Amino acid sequence: MLLSFCIAMGRPNNEANFATGFCIMSADSNTFESVKAVILSAHKSTTSEEKVGFYNRWAENYDQDVAVLDYRAPSLAADCISSHFSSVREAAVVLDVACGTGLVAKHMKKLGFEHFVGVDGSEAMLGRARESGLYQDLKQCMLGEEPLPVRWGSFDVVVIVGALSAGQVPISIARHLCNATKPDGFICMTTRSNQDNLEYKAALDSELRKMEEEELWTCLEVTEVKDWERAVSEKEDGYISGVVYLYKKL
Ligand SMILES: C[S@@+](CC[C@H](N)C(=O)[O-])C[C@H]1O[C@@H](n2cnc3c(N)ncnc32)[C@H](O)[C@@H]1O
Repeated sequence: MLLSFCIAMGRPNNEANFATGFCIMSADSNTFESVKAVILSAHKSTTSEEKVGFYNRWAENYDQDVAVLDYRAPSLAADCISSHFSSVREAAVVLDVACGTGLVAKHMKKLGFEHFVGVDGSEAMLGRARESGLYQDLKQCMLGEEPLPVRWGSFDVVVIVGALSAGQVPISIARHLCNATKPDGFICMTTRSNQDNLEYKAALDSELRKMEEEELWTCLEVTEVKDWERAVSEKEDGYISGVVYLYKKL
Protein backbone atom coordinates (compact mmCIF):
# COMPACT_ATOMS: atom_id res chain seq x y z
CA MET A 1 0.00 0.00 0.00
CA LEU A 2 1.27 3.45 -0.81
CA LEU A 3 1.87 5.54 2.24
CA SER A 4 1.71 9.26 1.72
CA PHE A 5 2.54 11.93 4.24
CA CYS A 6 0.38 14.98 4.49
CA ILE A 7 2.91 17.75 4.96
CA ALA A 8 0.42 20.56 5.38
CA MET A 9 -1.44 18.75 8.13
CA GLY A 10 1.67 17.10 9.58
CA ARG A 11 0.05 13.68 9.82
CA PRO A 12 0.25 10.43 7.85
CA ASN A 13 -2.42 9.71 5.29
CA ASN A 14 -3.00 6.32 3.69
CA GLU A 15 -4.27 7.71 0.41
CA ALA A 16 -2.45 9.99 -1.98
CA ASN A 17 -4.52 13.11 -2.58
CA PHE A 18 -2.85 15.18 -5.22
CA ALA A 19 -6.06 16.98 -6.11
CA THR A 20 -5.75 19.05 -2.94
CA GLY A 21 -2.09 19.64 -3.67
CA PHE A 22 -1.36 19.01 0.00
CA CYS A 23 0.17 15.56 -0.06
CA ILE A 24 3.53 14.40 -1.32
CA MET A 25 4.64 10.78 -1.21
CA SER A 26 7.01 9.73 1.54
CA ALA A 27 10.51 8.53 0.64
CA ASP A 28 9.71 4.83 1.17
CA SER A 29 6.94 4.91 -1.46
CA ASN A 30 8.68 6.57 -4.36
CA THR A 31 7.87 4.15 -7.14
CA PHE A 32 7.89 5.44 -10.72
CA GLU A 33 4.09 5.72 -10.66
CA SER A 34 4.06 7.74 -7.44
CA VAL A 35 6.77 10.11 -8.68
CA LYS A 36 4.88 10.54 -11.95
CA ALA A 37 1.75 11.46 -9.98
CA VAL A 38 3.70 14.03 -7.96
CA ILE A 39 5.04 15.68 -11.11
CA LEU A 40 1.74 15.64 -12.97
CA SER A 41 0.15 17.28 -9.91
CA ALA A 42 2.43 20.29 -10.54
CA HIS A 43 0.52 21.02 -13.75
CA LYS A 44 -2.36 22.23 -11.57
CA SER A 45 -0.17 25.06 -10.29
CA THR A 46 -0.72 28.28 -12.21
CA THR A 47 0.23 31.19 -9.92
CA SER A 48 3.80 31.67 -8.69
CA GLU A 49 2.59 31.02 -5.13
CA GLU A 50 1.19 27.64 -6.21
CA LYS A 51 4.38 26.76 -8.10
CA VAL A 52 6.60 27.64 -5.14
CA GLY A 53 4.17 25.75 -2.90
CA PHE A 54 4.62 22.66 -5.07
CA TYR A 55 8.43 22.82 -4.73
CA ASN A 56 8.17 23.56 -1.00
CA ARG A 57 6.18 20.36 -0.55
CA TRP A 58 8.42 18.33 -2.88
CA ALA A 59 11.74 19.40 -1.29
CA GLU A 60 11.81 16.61 1.29
CA ASN A 61 11.54 13.79 -1.27
CA TYR A 62 13.00 15.56 -4.31
CA ASP A 63 16.39 13.80 -4.42
CA GLN A 64 14.92 10.30 -4.07
CA ASP A 65 12.15 11.05 -6.56
CA VAL A 66 14.41 12.43 -9.30
CA ALA A 67 16.68 9.41 -8.88
CA VAL A 68 13.66 7.25 -9.76
CA LEU A 69 13.26 9.34 -12.94
CA ASP A 70 16.92 8.75 -13.80
CA TYR A 71 17.28 12.57 -13.87
CA ARG A 72 20.81 13.16 -15.14
CA ALA A 73 20.73 16.86 -16.01
CA PRO A 74 22.87 18.00 -13.00
CA SER A 75 25.70 15.56 -13.79
CA LEU A 76 25.49 16.25 -17.55
CA ALA A 77 25.76 20.01 -16.94
CA ALA A 78 28.64 19.55 -14.45
CA ASP A 79 30.52 17.32 -16.94
CA CYS A 80 29.98 19.83 -19.75
CA ILE A 81 31.35 22.74 -17.65
CA SER A 82 34.24 20.62 -16.43
CA SER A 83 35.28 19.60 -19.95
CA HIS A 84 35.73 23.29 -20.96
CA PHE A 85 37.00 24.79 -17.69
CA SER A 86 40.78 25.15 -17.79
CA SER A 87 41.41 27.64 -14.91
CA VAL A 88 41.93 26.71 -11.24
CA ARG A 89 38.68 25.10 -10.15
CA GLU A 90 39.24 25.59 -6.43
CA ALA A 91 39.33 29.36 -6.98
CA ALA A 92 36.24 29.56 -9.19
CA VAL A 93 32.97 30.99 -7.85
CA VAL A 94 29.85 29.28 -9.22
CA LEU A 95 26.35 30.75 -9.24
CA ASP A 96 23.76 27.95 -9.21
CA VAL A 97 20.44 29.50 -10.31
CA ALA A 98 17.29 27.54 -9.36
CA CYS A 99 19.64 25.42 -7.26
CA GLY A 100 16.89 23.29 -5.70
CA THR A 101 18.34 20.89 -3.13
CA GLY A 102 21.89 21.31 -4.48
CA LEU A 103 22.38 18.45 -6.97
CA VAL A 104 24.41 20.59 -9.41
CA ALA A 105 26.84 21.73 -6.68
CA LYS A 106 27.12 18.13 -5.49
CA HIS A 107 28.28 16.99 -8.96
CA MET A 108 30.53 20.02 -9.53
CA LYS A 109 32.17 19.51 -6.13
CA LYS A 110 33.18 15.99 -7.23
CA LEU A 111 34.87 17.62 -10.24
CA GLY A 112 36.96 20.00 -8.10
CA PHE A 113 34.77 23.13 -7.78
CA GLU A 114 34.45 24.44 -4.22
CA HIS A 115 32.66 27.78 -4.07
CA PHE A 116 28.93 27.94 -4.68
CA VAL A 117 26.21 30.56 -4.33
CA GLY A 118 22.65 29.33 -4.81
CA VAL A 119 19.40 31.11 -5.73
CA ASP A 120 15.94 29.57 -5.69
CA GLY A 121 12.31 30.63 -5.24
CA SER A 122 11.46 27.86 -2.79
CA GLU A 123 12.46 28.27 0.85
CA ALA A 124 12.16 24.52 1.46
CA MET A 125 14.45 23.73 -1.49
CA LEU A 126 16.91 26.32 -0.17
CA GLY A 127 16.67 24.63 3.23
CA ARG A 128 17.77 21.33 1.69
CA ALA A 129 20.58 23.10 -0.19
CA ARG A 130 21.68 24.68 3.14
CA GLU A 131 21.75 21.23 4.78
CA SER A 132 24.08 19.99 2.03
CA GLY A 133 26.76 22.34 3.39
CA LEU A 134 27.95 23.02 -0.17
CA TYR A 135 26.90 26.67 -0.54
CA GLN A 136 28.63 29.75 0.90
CA ASP A 137 25.48 31.77 0.32
CA LEU A 138 21.85 31.01 -0.56
CA LYS A 139 19.29 33.59 -1.63
CA GLN A 140 15.54 33.38 -2.09
CA CYS A 141 14.31 35.00 -5.32
CA MET A 142 11.38 34.53 -7.72
CA LEU A 143 13.16 34.60 -11.07
CA GLY A 144 11.27 36.58 -13.67
CA GLU A 145 9.54 38.63 -10.97
CA GLU A 146 12.54 39.93 -9.04
CA PRO A 147 16.05 40.85 -10.18
CA LEU A 148 18.72 38.17 -9.74
CA PRO A 149 20.09 39.13 -6.28
CA VAL A 150 23.79 39.02 -7.15
CA ARG A 151 26.52 41.45 -8.24
CA TRP A 152 26.93 41.65 -12.01
CA GLY A 153 30.14 40.30 -13.52
CA SER A 154 31.19 38.43 -10.39
CA PHE A 155 30.90 34.70 -11.22
CA ASP A 156 33.30 32.40 -13.07
CA VAL A 157 30.46 29.98 -13.85
CA VAL A 158 26.69 30.53 -13.89
CA VAL A 159 24.54 27.43 -14.22
CA ILE A 160 20.80 26.78 -14.40
CA VAL A 161 19.60 23.17 -14.56
CA GLY A 162 16.08 21.74 -14.67
CA ALA A 163 14.35 25.13 -14.45
CA LEU A 164 14.30 26.50 -18.00
CA SER A 165 10.96 25.13 -19.15
CA ALA A 166 7.37 26.13 -19.70
CA GLY A 167 5.79 27.26 -16.42
CA GLN A 168 9.09 27.67 -14.56
CA VAL A 169 11.77 30.29 -15.19
CA PRO A 170 11.08 32.75 -18.05
CA ILE A 171 13.48 33.00 -21.00
CA SER A 172 14.29 36.62 -20.08
CA ILE A 173 16.57 35.19 -17.35
CA ALA A 174 19.20 34.36 -20.03
CA ARG A 175 20.39 37.99 -20.13
CA HIS A 176 20.59 38.12 -16.33
CA LEU A 177 22.68 34.93 -16.28
CA CYS A 178 25.05 36.55 -18.75
CA ASN A 179 25.14 39.79 -16.71
CA ALA A 180 26.09 37.87 -13.56
CA THR A 181 29.06 36.19 -15.30
CA LYS A 182 32.63 37.57 -15.45
CA PRO A 183 34.06 38.25 -18.93
CA ASP A 184 35.42 34.91 -20.25
CA GLY A 185 33.26 33.10 -17.68
CA PHE A 186 30.90 30.22 -18.55
CA ILE A 187 27.12 30.03 -18.65
CA CYS A 188 25.61 26.54 -18.67
CA MET A 189 21.87 25.97 -19.21
CA THR A 190 19.65 22.95 -19.74
CA THR A 191 16.18 22.49 -21.14
CA ARG A 192 13.92 19.61 -22.18
CA SER A 193 13.13 18.94 -25.84
CA ASN A 194 10.02 16.85 -25.35
CA GLN A 195 6.61 17.67 -26.80
CA ASP A 196 5.24 19.94 -24.05
CA ASN A 197 8.40 22.07 -23.98
CA LEU A 198 8.98 22.54 -27.73
CA GLU A 199 7.49 26.02 -27.93
CA TYR A 200 9.52 27.21 -24.92
CA LYS A 201 12.69 25.61 -26.31
CA ALA A 202 12.22 27.29 -29.71
CA ALA A 203 11.85 30.70 -28.02
CA LEU A 204 14.87 29.96 -25.81
CA ASP A 205 17.01 28.95 -28.83
CA SER A 206 16.01 32.15 -30.59
CA GLU A 207 16.96 34.32 -27.56
CA LEU A 208 20.31 32.52 -27.11
CA ARG A 209 21.11 33.07 -30.82
CA LYS A 210 20.07 36.72 -30.60
CA MET A 211 22.43 37.25 -27.67
CA GLU A 212 25.22 35.67 -29.69
CA GLU A 213 24.47 38.05 -32.60
CA GLU A 214 24.67 40.93 -30.10
CA GLU A 215 28.15 39.60 -29.17
CA LEU A 216 27.23 39.16 -25.52
CA TRP A 217 28.50 35.59 -25.56
CA THR A 218 29.72 32.84 -27.82
CA CYS A 219 28.36 29.31 -28.01
CA LEU A 220 30.87 26.59 -27.05
CA GLU A 221 28.65 23.54 -27.04
CA VAL A 222 25.07 22.42 -27.57
CA THR A 223 24.62 18.76 -26.70
CA GLU A 224 21.36 16.96 -27.44
CA VAL A 225 20.86 14.07 -25.03
CA LYS A 226 18.40 11.33 -25.96
CA ASP A 227 18.03 9.62 -22.59
CA TRP A 228 17.57 12.82 -20.57
CA GLU A 229 15.09 11.46 -18.02
CA ARG A 230 12.17 9.06 -17.86
CA ALA A 231 8.98 10.38 -19.46
CA VAL A 232 6.11 11.15 -17.10
CA SER A 233 3.50 12.53 -19.49
CA GLU A 234 0.70 10.27 -20.72
CA LYS A 235 1.70 11.10 -24.33
CA GLU A 236 5.29 9.86 -24.06
CA ASP A 237 7.01 6.56 -23.30
CA GLY A 238 10.48 5.59 -22.21
CA TYR A 239 12.87 8.53 -22.01
CA ILE A 240 12.47 12.14 -23.11
CA SER A 241 15.34 14.11 -24.63
CA GLY A 242 17.01 17.31 -23.44
CA VAL A 243 19.80 19.73 -24.20
CA VAL A 244 22.88 21.13 -22.43
CA TYR A 245 24.08 24.54 -23.66
CA LEU A 246 27.43 26.06 -22.79
CA TYR A 247 28.29 29.71 -23.60
CA LYS A 248 31.33 31.84 -22.89
CA LYS A 249 30.74 35.48 -21.96
CA LEU A 250 32.55 37.98 -24.21
C1 LIG B 1 13.40 20.72 -11.21
S1 LIG B 1 14.06 21.69 -9.93
C2 LIG B 1 15.79 21.76 -10.39
C3 LIG B 1 16.67 21.96 -9.18
C4 LIG B 1 18.15 21.71 -9.43
N1 LIG B 1 18.70 22.72 -10.32
C5 LIG B 1 18.33 20.33 -10.00
O1 LIG B 1 18.67 20.20 -11.19
O2 LIG B 1 18.12 19.36 -9.25
C6 LIG B 1 13.53 23.33 -10.37
C7 LIG B 1 13.90 24.37 -9.32
O3 LIG B 1 13.63 25.65 -9.87
C8 LIG B 1 13.00 26.44 -8.90
N2 LIG B 1 12.17 27.41 -9.63
C9 LIG B 1 11.26 27.13 -10.59
N3 LIG B 1 10.74 28.28 -11.07
C10 LIG B 1 11.35 29.29 -10.39
C11 LIG B 1 11.26 30.70 -10.43
N4 LIG B 1 10.44 31.34 -11.29
N5 LIG B 1 12.03 31.42 -9.58
C12 LIG B 1 12.88 30.80 -8.72
N6 LIG B 1 13.01 29.47 -8.64
C13 LIG B 1 12.26 28.72 -9.47
C14 LIG B 1 12.21 25.49 -8.03
O4 LIG B 1 11.95 26.01 -6.75
C15 LIG B 1 13.12 24.26 -8.03
O5 LIG B 1 13.98 24.27 -6.93
